[in-house]
Amino acid sequence: MTTPTTTPGHGILGSDRQEDREQLIEMLTRAYWMEVETVVSYLANSINPDGVRAQEIIESLEEDVQEELGHARQFGERIKELYGVVPGSLDFKPEQSYLQPPEQQTDVVHVIKGVIEAETGAIDYYNEIIEFCEGKDLVTQDMVIDILRDEEGHRRLFEGFLREYKAEGLA
Ligand SMILES: [Fe+2]
Ligand SMILES: [Fe+2]
Repeated sequence: MTTPTTTPGHGILGSDRQEDREQLIEMLTRAYWMEVETVVSYLANSINPDGVRAQEIIESLEEDVQEELGHARQFGERIKELYGVVPGSLDFKPEQSYLQPPEQQTDVVHVIKGVIEAETGAIDYYNEIIEFCEGKDLVTQDMVIDILRDEEGHRRLFEGFLREYKAEGLA
């Protein structure tokens, strides 16, 4: 008979898995900040654009702000479950230079391209996390797979917007 223990003998919460856990918390923290920065960028870009054609982009980004905030929360909650601490704002280092406001607020193509770049970055990084989780933490893997699907959907939607502008020679 095995001795009862308060620490799981299997999975990422195992006492011998601290190194993996720390590495994963680091990855989840980066993902958390990516989501938070995306919220900030999409919020601005759901307000700034001018023009008839901008309305579709505005509405779409308004919805995405809520979704990306939900992703940030999921990453944060998983960090806590793995015994990490969700960082405070002073740790924030912005990276999304491509999602800054364009010179002309009617420049919707700039926004569309910026969104595609942000989503592509998220897709690449979340695939990395999913690969890291293989055989280590299927719960985090499952969560990130769901989030990845959302990002793939966002990217596809904005690719469609870009196609329309390209077809008209505007992008
Ligand atoms: Fe997201
Ligand atoms: Fe997204």
